[in-house]
Amino acid sequence: MSFSPPTTVLIIGSGVFGLSTAEALSRRPSFASTTITVVDRGSGGGEGDENDFPARDAASIDSSRIIRADYADSAYAALADEAQTFWRGTTKPADRCSDEDYIGGGGRYTESGLIVVADGSDTVDADRCSGKTQKNGMYYVRESWANVQALAAQDPSLGPKLHELSDAEAIRAAVGTGGTTGDWGYLNAASGWADAAASMAWLLHRVQATGRVRFVRGKVASLEAKNDRVVGVCLENGQTLTADLTVVATGAWTESLVAGDLGENRSLTGTLTATGQVIGYVPLVSDDEHAKVASMPVVLNLTTGLFVIPPAKDSRELKVARHAYGYINPSKEAGPSTPFTHLDDPDLAIPVEGAADLRRALRQMVPLPGLADRPFTRTRICWYTDTPTGDFLVDYHPDMQGLFVATGGSGHAFKFLPVIGDKVVDCVEGQRPEAFAEKWAWRTAAAADKGAPSWSTVVTEDGSRGDRPGRLLREELAKEEVA
Ligand SMILES: Cc1cc2nc3c(=O)[nH]c(=O)nc-3n(C[C@H](O)[C@H](O)[C@H](O)COP(=O)(O)OP(=O)(O)OC[C@H]3O[C@@H](n4cnc5c(N)ncnc54)[C@H](O)[C@@H]3O)c2cc1C
Ligand SMILES: *[C@@H]1O[C@H](CO)[C@@H](O)[C@H](O)[C@H]1NC(C)=O
Repeated sequence: MSFSPPTTVLIIGSGVFGLSTAEALSRRPSFASTTITVVDRGSGGGEGDENDFPARDAASIDSSRIIRADYADSAYAALADEAQTFWRGTTKPADRCSDEDYIGGGGRYTESGLIVVADGSDTVDADRCSGKTQKNGMYYVRESWANVQALAAQDPSLGPKLHELSDAEAIRAAVGTGGTTGDWGYLNAASGWADAAASMAWLLHRVQATGRVRFVRGKVASLEAKNDRVVGVCLENGQTLTADLTVVATGAWTESLVAGDLGENRSLTGTLTATGQVIGYVPLVSDDEHAKVASMPVVLNLTTGLFVIPPAKDSRELKVARHAYGYINPSKEAGPSTPFTHLDDPDLAIPVEGAADLRRALRQMVPLPGLADRPFTRTRICWYTDTPTGDFLVDYHPDMQGLFVATGGSGHAFKFLPVIGDKVVDCVEGQRPEAFAEKWAWRTAAAADKGAPSWSTVVTEDGSRGDRPGRLLREELAKEEVA
């Protein structure tokens, strides 16, 4: 089947998925005559601020995001390995004249190394009656170790960077802050972290420089449909934008946008859920303290989901966060879970339960005097777009024409920023990469679980999540002490 490119494409959302898709479209010869527009609600600042893409509360904006090929799933491990060549600037070294020529330059990518650890055995019994087992943290670490070993078999430079940490002593030595135990894990010295906000800004300027993409500030109130075809959107200010193809890349806001509009059977119920995740930033009070944490690798404990990312050279903050099932925030009774962020409420702080867990991470991983009890400089609830398996959703809507969805980051899409746009456009052209043929496809089966409230049907079970499912944001925010 031949693909005929649309005359106009409208992308809603300018995070990792939306912006990278715009960039890939602007480069692809088959879209040379296509008009490309990106619309984002922005951060509510001045209308004229052309740098306010994406919004400051988007998942794609933060001080840091882990860049790793350490995946329990071999398809994502391979794609992340490819993305890393862009972060390192080794894809086409000849094209690299200055730090500004590649995404990871200018301090945007730091190869600090990454330690992944877990406790206990590979799988736990989820259900004593059915005998079904559930993936857990140790499962994730062991599969991930196997996948990076396989990558190392093809790439001789990777092998020497992988170090098994077979007991608590080895883990303690590799972390280097004096803290930590844990049963088993490994260090991958070829992984690291990226300055997410700076990387997005770098890509935005690249896209703007092509002159091919129009950026519009506005909140999409609804998708406009004629019969079974989406023909564009209506903005909150009443303006309409029309398009042959509308690409929804609104991250954690996707379920409420698409669900509200297309009616029960066409919504994303059971496919996607917004889950709130806690982050804390701890001030570093002396040069000595900064030096101790600045040289540590990223540490990710897959038994608890807790992780610490070292600071940049010129930053005085240590970041601690939790990769968990997260908080859900159903808008009405049984309505879709909707993000609630520091832009909705400037005084929003993380629940006491989350803060206590972050302090537990600091005690385990960075036991420097006074650090774990120090007040956070700031905290944040950042929203994942979760799918049942942790796979992305990159596909046409099954029964609405002119509508394509690129989202479902499930808390791990940032690292793919240099490569995901091209893959999305491949899918738009009907050429889905084989390794993701099923993983990224629209799943209607998930929605079959009628009767249950939508937000309770999506729980990400890829083995990587800490804490427990089903915490309600409003309830947790109302608590004054840890139960
Ligand atoms: C706490 C946290 C830690 C993470 N850690 C990592 C990590 O270490 N490594 C990694 O690889 N990934 C990580 N991720 C995941 C990664 O950041 C996300 O998967 C990715 O950024 C998602 O991008 P997105 O484009 O789907 O969404 P977003 O970046 O949220 O972008 C969505 C955009 O849509 C806009 N929008 C929404 N609704 C509307 C509307 N109605 N009208 C107009 N615009 C709208 C928003 O303003 C926003 O700008 C983490 C995520 C979080 C939250
Ligand atoms: C990971 O968390 C578990 C459970 O709390 C703990 O026993 C272990 O020591 C932690 N490991 C690290 C490296 O912090």
